[in-house]
Amino acid sequence: MPASLKWLALLLAASVLAAMAAGAVMYAETRARTRVMAEQVSGGTVTAGRAAIARYGCGSCHAIPGVAGASGSVGPSLAKVAVRASIAGRLPNDAEAMALWLRHPQAVTPRNGMPEQGVTRSDARDITAYLYTLK
Ligand code: HEC
Repeated sequence: MPASLKWLALLLAASVLAAMAAGAVMYAETRARTRVMAEQVSGGTVTAGRAAIARYGCGSCHAIPGVAGASGSVGPSLAKVAVRASIAGRLPNDAEAMALWLRHPQAVTPRNGMPEQGVTRSDARDITAYLYTLK
């Protein structure tokens, strides 16, 4: 191969690598921003929310991305729950309504399949933070 072609190949390889690195940085930034926004609107903490979801056993009824073993199919999958328009078809999907649903689903929709689990106000905020990262 002529030397000029070698340089061209090298240049190409270098720009592909640079584009990949830029993509990875953008991906990480978007994820970080999603997390910060989820914590701002909910007043909770994403990491604590994931732990609370595991503790309450939400995954026995719901598939929940990012939560180990959460693959239940009694209730709807919570994948992309952050971008849904409504909660359980009853409430507007905002942080306050989400916390209300998590704490008192039977008050919102009597006799629906999701039980009252004694979710505390602060756990509800943390769980909401986690759910709002699921876009
Ligand atoms: C015994 C099964 C069960 C458990 C446990 C349970 N859920 Fe549910 N959940 C349901 C069912 C059924 C629905 C659908 C209710 C409806 O649409 O009226 C639901 C609905 C929801 C919704 C609304 C989803 C949507 O698409 O609108 C969210 C959010 C949710 N659950 C989160 C949780 C979280 C977080 C926990 C743990 C604290 C939990 N659930 C525990 C059964 C369960």
